[in-house]
Amino acid sequence: MMEVKPNILIVDDDEVMCRTLSEVLEKMSCEVASAQKGEDALYCLRKMVFDLILLDIKLPDMDGFDILKEIREIDSDPLVIMMTAYADVQTVVAAMKAGAYDYINKPFEIDELRLAVKKALETKELRGELLRLRYKHRDKEEEEEIYGVSPQMDVVRELISLISQTPRTPVLIQGESGTGKELVANAIHYQSRRRQKPIIKINCSAIPEALLESELFGYEKGAFTDAKENRPGLIELAQGGTVFLDEISEMKPSLQPKLLRFLETYLLRRVGGERDIKMDVRVITSTNKELAQLVETGEFRKDLYYRIKVMVIDLPPLRDRKEDIPTFTQYFNKKIGRELGKEIRSVTDEALDLLLAYSWPGNVRELKNVIERAMILARGDLIAPEDLPLELRRNKVERASSLGEKWVDNVDGFSPLAAVERRYILKVLQEKRGNKSETARVLGISRSTLREKLNRYRLNP
Ligand SMILES: Nc1ncnc2c1ncn2[C@@H]1O[C@H](COP(=O)(O)OP(=O)(O)OP(=O)(O)O)[C@@H](O)[C@H]1O
Ligand SMILES: [Mg+2]
Repeated sequence: MMEVKPNILIVDDDEVMCRTLSEVLEKMSCEVASAQKGEDALYCLRKMVFDLILLDIKLPDMDGFDILKEIREIDSDPLVIMMTAYADVQTVVAAMKAGAYDYINKPFEIDELRLAVKKALETKELRGELLRLRYKHRDKEEEEEIYGVSPQMDVVRELISLISQTPRTPVLIQGESGTGKELVANAIHYQSRRRQKPIIKINCSAIPEALLESELFGYEKGAFTDAKENRPGLIELAQGGTVFLDEISEMKPSLQPKLLRFLETYLLRRVGGERDIKMDVRVITSTNKELAQLVETGEFRKDLYYRIKVMVIDLPPLRDRKEDIPTFTQYFNKKIGRELGKEIRSVTDEALDLLLAYSWPGNVRELKNVIERAMILARGDLIAPEDLPLELRRNKVERASSLGEKWVDNVDGFSPLAAVERRYILKVLQEKRGNKSETARVLGISRSTLREKLNRYRLNP
């Protein structure tokens, strides 16, 4: 994986000094630029963003203190270590007052310099952490397991594990609301080598158009009236990690070319700035709208569309993978039970039938909410039909003569396959008086497959 190295500027009129320092710092895996004159230093600062500046206090064309002041004007972000030949207390005090982070006396030992640089970079890293904390999302950041026994979910898990191994291939996650797009984005981040770095999430529809650009890319002092100082954007804060652009379809056409430029170069330019920052992030986007359609109507740029959909993960609606419903029900039951401090053992067969028959327009999120509500309402240790919302209970429950069992019709008058399978297994099991070997034999499946199905359909005693 490409690593972004700390960017250091050396400002010293002594060429040999510049070269020696460059070598030492490059060995410490830093990216180094040097300037021998104050003017050159300021030029560099206007062109690039640095993490750290080693600044000689005495330069031919400018006083080190004046440069320090100008540096602060351009960018308050980089840390400055002053290098001074006069071990004069007053100079040091003045340097610190002028905003230097540290100082080092000339001549110095290489180790001394290494230590000072290391300390400064650690501070820098820490400051980044603090900034990121302010943007941290309300919901828990830890990795959540992706549940689901459907073949579609197997494919999703497979794709996640393949994609996590790529360094920064863009990913587009498509799916209706509540299908688990954010969950998948998290999984890619936490399974990848970027897991130690932040995942920064930006909902493109939640930020007003006028603000989105500066939120994403940051701004330089003076970019607009309120830009009193330089501010890194959310993408910049994700350095080394993952950027999750939620609801990318809502990004306005004016901003789309800027995102495209970023994805083609991974160079970031703050609003009102002329300096490029080399970024190493993976960009994941998500949408619940048909992007291809928006491309047709011209609302979404074709070139950007092709750039973000290098890898696509499709999350099918819950109604197309009903076999996941019993698993999710069990999982949410346990999880919410812990949160509520209320233990509900299971759901009744009738309630499960209703869950299986419903069309779930709000997908997994809706199921989760329905379970939570039911658990609060439940009187015994089972969730019963009356604990479920009306729209679920409206589905007809009928008797199917052929098996003498209850069948559920969903809207189209058909039963979900999972419901049929469950009923059928139950029927055979009852016929065989609970003998599992016999049941498996009659069904033509192995005992372990039967066991798995019994678990899945919660048919265990
Ligand atoms: N496969 C899954 N396993 C476990 N939990 C899931 C799964 N899919 C979704 N969820 C849960 O469902 C809820 C909704 O998921 P998420 O927020 O990721 O959906 P989304 O597609 O981003 O929705 P929206 O489009 O509304 O933003 C979350 O609580 C999530 O943890
Ligand atoms: Mg979401």
